[in-house]
Amino acid sequence: MEFINKLFVNYYMNKLEQDLKDNISINKKNVFNNKLRDNLSSNLNNNLNNNLTIKYDKNAYFYNEGYKYLMQTYARLPVVFKYAKMQYLWDVNQKKYIDFIAGYGCLNVGHSNPYVLKMLQKQIKKIIQPSNVFFNIPQIQLAKKLCQITGFGEKVFFANSGTEAIEAAIKLARKFSREKFFHERYHIISFRKSFHGRTLGALSATAQEEKQNVYQPLLSGFKYANLNDIESVKKLIDENTCAVLLELIQGEGGINVCDFKFIEDLVDICKNEKILLIIDEVQTGFGRTGKMFAYQNYNFYPDILVLAKSLGGGMPIGAIVSKDEISTVFQPGSHGSTFGGNAASCAAGIAVIEYIMKNDLILKARHLSNYLFENLFTLKDKYQIVKEVRGMGLMLGIEFNKPVAGELVLKALSDGIVINKVSPEIIRLLPPLVINKNNIDYLIKWLDRSLKEL
Ligand SMILES: Cc1ncc(COP(=O)(O)O)c(C=O)c1O
Repeated sequence: MEFINKLFVNYYMNKLEQDLKDNISINKKNVFNNKLRDNLSSNLNNNLNNNLTIKYDKNAYFYNEGYKYLMQTYARLPVVFKYAKMQYLWDVNQKKYIDFIAGYGCLNVGHSNPYVLKMLQKQIKKIIQPSNVFFNIPQIQLAKKLCQITGFGEKVFFANSGTEAIEAAIKLARKFSREKFFHERYHIISFRKSFHGRTLGALSATAQEEKQNVYQPLLSGFKYANLNDIESVKKLIDENTCAVLLELIQGEGGINVCDFKFIEDLVDICKNEKILLIIDEVQTGFGRTGKMFAYQNYNFYPDILVLAKSLGGGMPIGAIVSKDEISTVFQPGSHGSTFGGNAASCAAGIAVIEYIMKNDLILKARHLSNYLFENLFTLKDKYQIVKEVRGMGLMLGIEFNKPVAGELVLKALSDGIVINKVSPEIIRLLPPLVINKNNIDYLIKWLDRSLKEL
């Protein structure tokens, strides 16, 4: 890992030296001076996760400014995007990229989708935020739509992000369980390698020690089972268990797909033990897995469904959906959010759902998924370094036998492709559902060339 990162730093520094030697003329406004160079170099060295190739000048200028003024909570890649349209991005040097990560799964309908923009623009001219002491029309319409398309929903609560929606789900589950059963019944089982967000409640559910440790003590009452291991779940269940919280495909954890039998057993157990099943579809929702929601691939209804990311088409939004039997324990004052359910984000949400349905996006994405999987399996047969290709719909992971993911992300960027590394060995693909066959061909040809060179 360290070796690879050093490689990137060296790669970048060598390229820089070479170009300076070659006397590349640099726009005066974006002077690439020694100070900037030193800063960049130390940023890179300090930030070992940075896998980068730099098209310096403007990208380097903004990269440096960003490091100066923003807290360094992310291992930033050194490209700064200025424009985006559907499945394409352009950096500050006007270089074009094909997006295979869609803002970490936020842009299933593409960047700045014209249909979403139109609805959003119309709405922000009318009213953005009347406050939650009043209903607003897009909020009502979006809640109704979510109830209809989920097939089970009767009430919705809106938040601003995935992590806040998870907090709402934890609170709803605990309140329901305590009111229906008894006070101590508040324990929640989640899964190792899961990711549910960064606020302290959601982080308590995110069973990854390296993310949790420095923030201890976290919320009590969380226990962790192993994905696809029903015995590990059974062992943790007792009379105080109120809910199980689960991603049907772990995204940040490396594209780990739940087995059908595991879910069948889990649904049965939860039903028999009267334990709520909370399904986190923050990343898997809105067509990503070949159905509107991933649970529709498994044939059950969650008790509480958690949504965010692509619901907003780029606008911040989160939501939980559940039946009246559960949701009515939330009463005025039980929970809330100042911006949650604001009219602008909700108008974008309505547009996202309409766009997906009017354009048959899910069916198209299913065809593209088959095409992408077929091509990736061919590459797997061709190159020993590819250990596994897995996923569902347009949510894919490519696992390698060696820690080459960072190097590939770097190379992809310099070749105009945006992909994502979830671990040193795993690449994640979450393209906007509006990509086309040509985009996939471009990726596959690039992968073929790149894997040959590894
Ligand atoms: C499955 C899942 N749940 C929750 C979250 C948290 O969402 P947010 O970053 O919007 O808070 C994420 C974010 O990546 C996620 O993938």
